[in-house]
Amino acid sequence: MLALCVTVVLLSAGAIQTAPLTCEDLIRPLDLSELHLNQTLGKWINVAESSEHLPYIKTNSAWIDVSISASNTSQNNTFDIALFAFSEIKQACFRFNSTYTLHDNGKLTCEFPVPAVLVLLSTCSDCLLANESFTINGTTYRSLELWTRTREVVVDLDLFMKQAACLRLPPVAVIDAQKELCPDTI
Ligand SMILES: *[C@@H]1O[C@H](CO)[C@@H](O)[C@H](O)[C@H]1NC(C)=O
Ligand SMILES: *[C@@H]1O[C@H](CO)[C@@H](O)[C@H](O)[C@H]1NC(C)=O
Ligand SMILES: *[C@@H]1O[C@H](CO)[C@@H](O)[C@H](O)[C@H]1NC(C)=O
Ligand SMILES: *[C@@H]1O[C@H](CO)[C@@H](O)[C@H](O)[C@H]1NC(C)=O
Ligand SMILES: *[C@@H]1O[C@H](CO)[C@@H](O)[C@H](O)[C@H]1NC(C)=O
Ligand SMILES: *[C@@H]1O[C@H](CO)[C@@H](O)[C@H](O)[C@H]1NC(C)=O
Repeated sequence: MLALCVTVVLLSAGAIQTAPLTCEDLIRPLDLSELHLNQTLGKWINVAESSEHLPYIKTNSAWIDVSISASNTSQNNTFDIALFAFSEIKQACFRFNSTYTLHDNGKLTCEFPVPAVLVLLSTCSDCLLANESFTINGTTYRSLELWTRTREVVVDLDLFMKQAACLRLPPVAVIDAQKELCPDTI
C-alpha cells in the first residue's frame, strides 16, 4: 500500500508542469517592511521603461538617489529622491529634488516636479520596479520603470516586457548603455 502511494506520488510529481506565471504573479506589490524600504535607499540607474508619456529614457539617461528625508517624522515616512538626468533636447544635465510620502496602503506620492503616485513591485534582487502614474497639465499617464544598482546588472527584459503587458502599457524602451550618466554634482 505504502509502495503504491509512493509510486502514485512520484508519477503525479513527474507530471507537474511549470504553470505559466499569471499577471497576478508578475505584478506583485513589494512588501514594504523596514528591511525592504532600506534596500531601496541609494543610487539606482534607469535601464528600461514602458510609458504612456513619451518614454523619458529615449531622450535622457537618468539615475536617482533615494534617501530618508530630513522631514521624515514619526507620523509621516518620507523619502527624498534626487533625479539626475541628461536631456538630449537641452544637451544638459539637470537635477530634480522630490519628496515622496509613504502611505499606509503602500503608495508613495509626491507633488513635485509633477504630482505622482508610485507603487513598488517585486522584481530581481538588485532592481527596483516602480509602477507609476503622474499628471502633466491635467493629463494622467502611467509608466513602469526598471532601475538597477549598476549597469552591469543583467536584467530579464523578457520578464519586464511581460510585466508591462500585464499593466497594459505601451512597448518597452531600453536605455542605450553608451549614454553617459550625469555626475552627482550639478
Ligand atoms: C533601516 O534604516 C534605518 C535608518 O538608517 C536604521 O535605523 C534601521 O536599523 C534599518 N533597518 C534595517 C532592518 O536595516
Ligand atoms: C503627513 O502627510 C499628510 C499627507 O501627505 C499630510 O496631510 C500631513 O500634514 C502630514 N503630517 C505631518 C506631521 O507632516
Ligand atoms: C521615519 O519615520 C518612520 C515612521 O513614520 C519610522 O518608522 C522610521 O524609523 C523613520 N526613519 C528614520 C530614519 O528616522
Ligand atoms: C537639491 O538638493 C540638494 C541637496 O540638498 C541641493 O544642494 C540642491 O541645490 C537641490 N537642487 C535643487 C534643484 O533644488
Ligand atoms: C499600477 O498603477 C496604476 C496607476 O496608478 C494602478 O491603477 C494599478 O492598480 C497599479 N498596479 C499595481 C499592481 O500596483
Ligand atoms: C503645460 O502647458 C503649458 C501651456 O500649454 C506649457 O507652456 C507647459 O510647458 C506645459 N507643461 C508641461 C510640463 O508640459
